[in-house]
Amino acid sequence: MSRIVYVNGEYLPEAEAKISVFDRGFLMADAVYEVTSVIDGKILAFDGHAERLERSMSELDMKAPCTIDELEAIHREMVARNNLSEGLIYLQVTRGIADRDFVYPDVEPSLVLFTQSKNVVDSPMAKTGMKVISIPDIRWGRRDIKTVQLLAPSMGKMAAKAAGCDDAWLVEDGFVTEGTSNNAYIVTQDGTIVTRNLGHEILSGITRAAVLRYAAEAQIKIEERPFTIEEAQSAKEAFVTSASTFVWPVVEIDGKTIGDGKAGEIARRLREIYLEESLKTAI
Ligand code: PDD
Repeated sequence: MSRIVYVNGEYLPEAEAKISVFDRGFLMADAVYEVTSVIDGKILAFDGHAERLERSMSELDMKAPCTIDELEAIHREMVARNNLSEGLIYLQVTRGIADRDFVYPDVEPSLVLFTQSKNVVDSPMAKTGMKVISIPDIRWGRRDIKTVQLLAPSMGKMAAKAAGCDDAWLVEDGFVTEGTSNNAYIVTQDGTIVTRNLGHEILSGITRAAVLRYAAEAQIKIEERPFTIEEAQSAKEAFVTSASTFVWPVVEIDGKTIGDGKAGEIARRLREIYLEESLKTAI
């Protein structure tokens, strides 16, 4: 079955969903995006993703294509039209279509959404855990804005693949910023969760916010601060979070086994709590 794709007010079969070559998303990566997950036909953490989208657009002086209520209606319609039971919804807003120029044009934004059907709950990686390598963080300086400039993360994933691993953790000035497409965490030997503090250096993950809230509720100590690869390698556990993975354990960093090489207990618990709690507020 061909997917139904949303393009600027129209729901179209994917082969008919087209965007201009003059769209600034295509020409200049002048675009922002969000990925939300769907379980049992329900959209998880919609409000958080919508708020972050508004922030990304406002940081770039980009016009919003519609209201949040309209966006919610489009998300629901996409789930319905694509009969999406489990998977992801990808949304992209671009500044719009204009002749190529570095100066922002005063045009209407483009809005595109598509769905991806996928087993996000029963993913093998949630059980086995990921092997990661560390690589220099070569991305730009405003990683808090969720832009579509994803070549550096793609290069990182390719480097990981070439090394026989699953993903890469990015290192800047000696400290881990985040994963290529997820936030990175370690659990110290005394059971404290450590994750990079928010700033321009990392994306403020919607899953990160929820997982840290649930961890605090479960009386787990949290430290938001930079950590090194060496500290991570001697940690009890390591894990990542994102809308598409929820919580995935990390069992190896640069060839060094973390803990006993199995998915960590805290990561396993937080994944369980995250799935249970976020389904309660799913729409
Ligand atoms: N990536 N950091 C980066 C660099 C990311 O690209 C992502 C999300 C996250 C986690 O954010 P959230 O919990 O809001 O998904 C952190 C998405 C899933 C992607 O690009 O596919």
